[in-house]
Amino acid sequence: MSHRDVVSIPPAGFRVLATTSTCETGAIEDPVRRLYGVQFHPEVVHTADGVRILENFVFGICHCAKDWDASQRIALIHDEICRRAGERKIFFFVSGGVDSTVAFSLCLDALGSERVRGVYVDTGLMREGETDYIRQTFAGFGLIRIEDCAEEFLSALEHVRDPEVKRHIIGEQFVKIQERIIEERGLLDGRWILGQGTIYPDTIESGGTARASTIKTHHNRVPGIQKLMDAGLIVEPLADFYKDEVRAIGRELGIAPQLLERHPFPGPGLAIRCLCAEADHPVTRVPDGYLVPVRSVGVQGDARSYAPVLAIDAFPSEASKLQDEATELVNRSAGVNRVIARVTSREALGHQHVFASTLTHGRIALLREADALVRELSHDSGFDKEVWQFPVILIPLGCGESRDSVVLRPIQSVDGMTADSVTMPDELLHAMAARLMAIPEIAGVYYDLTHKPPGTIEWE
Ligand code: XMP
Repeated sequence: MSHRDVVSIPPAGFRVLATTSTCETGAIEDPVRRLYGVQFHPEVVHTADGVRILENFVFGICHCAKDWDASQRIALIHDEICRRAGERKIFFFVSGGVDSTVAFSLCLDALGSERVRGVYVDTGLMREGETDYIRQTFAGFGLIRIEDCAEEFLSALEHVRDPEVKRHIIGEQFVKIQERIIEERGLLDGRWILGQGTIYPDTIESGGTARASTIKTHHNRVPGIQKLMDAGLIVEPLADFYKDEVRAIGRELGIAPQLLERHPFPGPGLAIRCLCAEADHPVTRVPDGYLVPVRSVGVQGDARSYAPVLAIDAFPSEASKLQDEATELVNRSAGVNRVIARVTSREALGHQHVFASTLTHGRIALLREADALVRELSHDSGFDKEVWQFPVILIPLGCGESRDSVVLRPIQSVDGMTADSVTMPDELLHAMAARLMAIPEIAGVYYDLTHKPPGTIEWE
């Protein structure tokens, strides 16, 4: 699909079990030594019969016993929380998202309300209305306090343009604030440990496996937190679970469906959806469209790489066809991992520029406004129920006084590890585009046609 590694000659003793039109060695076995290998990911949702392949291996070949019972998992998680905590209390930094809410509730159930506390750090990078939502949902119980750190985050990020530096600063800033709160509240007096809502993909995609170290940097895995982990001062009750399982656990705990069905939102917030550029640069005409010189991330093979974006200068009437073509285009155009189509713009694509830009208060506010607008229309039309996530991205592409454009990225996914770009009803798309274009700073609206892989869900 998007990997380029090839096994041209199987090792001695192995025979080839499966091939595809693009891969001569799809699966191999050495029946004598009972060794098996596949050149694809049976565990991801895009793989037809992947679960069956794993079942055949685990039960048919390894003869494992089917003694895992999902209905027992909450009791096991509770045991693990109690074992980790011992006599200590657990402190959480909650985000209002599904993962930290479910992790917090598990600890609350396991240890009781006297032994679990939390803080919500308002980074100034959250969506419209988020802090009020937290206030209404959690603060009332007296278990969670809101800490306003917006200025700290925004001033640390003010001149940053590089996406990975941005992620790192946010991670470090979180740790600094966390350490300060930990200090202030006396959480290091041996009576507390830190709880986190880390889920399994966060670990794999941040380098939990040997080869995936460059896939994603994640603030639950930055050095400050790693130190606490090494000292055994962290409990992550959901670290073995995927998002769909976390939602199922949340349902079993009786957490409100509106909360469990919230779309995932990344910890670094709007910052990683607000792209910056080093210098002014025009777009470049290439055979398939225009190359937009912003740096957006993708996963080709197992590595996370930044590359320019290919923009197609018209919005097709049949977007689904173009989504297939987009994958083709990425595979064909070396050095690109994302394709967008122009929905509307003030000027033709060929006349547009990328503008030198940083993460200013103004651009974050502009993205927040665009995101709120898209969310409102998406909610009112019921479209938000049809997608797993709907990132709205601001890119510094424009003309004249309108120096930014909006990219719409509705996707469908089961676990966030793979994702499909989703086609939106025409009427809704045009209503969204019209509302967005009424904002004078917005120069155009684009639609991300890229699946994951080769693109990622987020742009940085
Ligand atoms: P990608 O962009 O890697 O995203 O395809 C997969 C899922 O992870 C979310 N994501 C993050 N969540 N901190 C988070 O808490 C992060 O740094 C982060 N980066 C990506 C993303 O929104 C998607 O659901």
